[in-house]
Amino acid sequence: MTSDGNVHAQHRTPRQRHGTACAISPSQDSGAAADRKVDVVSALEDYHDAAKQLGQHPQDHGWREFYKLVGYGLQERAPESVSILTKFSELRSSSGASHTVTLLGIALKATLTEESFRAILAPGTLTERLRCLEKELAVNEADVAGIMAARQNSFTSARRFLAAQVVLSAVFDTLAGKQANFADLGTGLGVMPRQINSQRSYERFAPDLRWPSGVPEFRPIPINKRFGVDRKPMPNIDWVRKCYGLSPYYDELLGELLATLQERDVRSAQVSLTELDLLDIDVMRSFLRREAINSVNLSYVLYELDVDLRGQILEVLISELKSPGLIIVTEPNSELTQQGCSVSLYLDNNAHPLELCTVSDGHFRGTVVPGADLELFQSQFPISYES
Ligand SMILES: C[S@@+](CC[C@H](N)C(=O)[O-])C[C@H]1O[C@@H](n2cnc3c(N)ncnc32)[C@H](O)[C@@H]1O
Repeated sequence: MTSDGNVHAQHRTPRQRHGTACAISPSQDSGAAADRKVDVVSALEDYHDAAKQLGQHPQDHGWREFYKLVGYGLQERAPESVSILTKFSELRSSSGASHTVTLLGIALKATLTEESFRAILAPGTLTERLRCLEKELAVNEADVAGIMAARQNSFTSARRFLAAQVVLSAVFDTLAGKQANFADLGTGLGVMPRQINSQRSYERFAPDLRWPSGVPEFRPIPINKRFGVDRKPMPNIDWVRKCYGLSPYYDELLGELLATLQERDVRSAQVSLTELDLLDIDVMRSFLRREAINSVNLSYVLYELDVDLRGQILEVLISELKSPGLIIVTEPNSELTQQGCSVSLYLDNNAHPLELCTVSDGHFRGTVVPGADLELFQSQFPISYES
């Protein structure tokens, strides 16, 4: 088990905002984020650093050239790029830096024709492409800014339920008679809570993800009720499609998602989709209490938020969940700038998470590398493997 004793520590970035603060007005943020102050200069520095690192990501599935360009544009103080991101930082200080850069790309992709968007990505030198980006931002600023004000990156994966299926079934197997009141928080399209307990979906994807001892057997979770929670407007397939990059890799993943949505047991799963902003702490607290939620999943959600807000959300979950108080947190490595992700688990209202594993590809293919606490977890909650 980790020994740092700090619930925030797992979810902090090394970089902290600092400098002179100026008031945000008017803010689109709600609840925990609404009254915060933001330092625009350091927010822009954070966006620049995030874009530069995203631009060096080892996998290029269609967004890397865009991120590189944004990093370059901010370095060169390109006026339209600086302007739109300055206004955004004032409006939505709750957004994490990597998330902001990805959201700018998605908003542009959603606004421009495919031809115009591709022209920003290639060919040409950074200088030429920056000219193109600045021109598009000047013409389309209102549309791009409007999308960024209202939306989040809602990329939804058809494979991210795999670890949750394994972890939840292992824990509930040891709790005779106990049923899960489960919520997938930041669910995106809401496919994950539908896939839970779909043996067909599990067996379709599980063989592509090797755990240290092989492929875990499918085991059902005793479920009483399940929710998919996201911010308003609830992401729909049109929006999620826009969050996928332009590349054969993403085309394949989108095909998987669409096919999964058509599967009979996924379609017929009883899931309540619930519009709720996790930053509206009081509303979230009421929801958790009303529904007696005892297990939640947050997959690629917290990285979208400013670091301080992540800890606040976790604190509420830790204190409010009913027993066994399971919180599965899957976060992209280094704020999305490195390949893969990590999976940690809070249990029994304990503020110290178990570090279960890292996954080599954030789309839950490849290998599961054991974290410091996987062995401890398995000693208490055995996982059985197919081979
Ligand atoms: C990248 S998507 C991940 C979707 C899904 N969990 C997955 O891994 O495939 C992150 C989702 O978290 C949601 N999210 C981020 N901040 C949120 C908040 N404050 N309240 C509710 N949902 C939020 C976003 O709207 C988005 O749909």
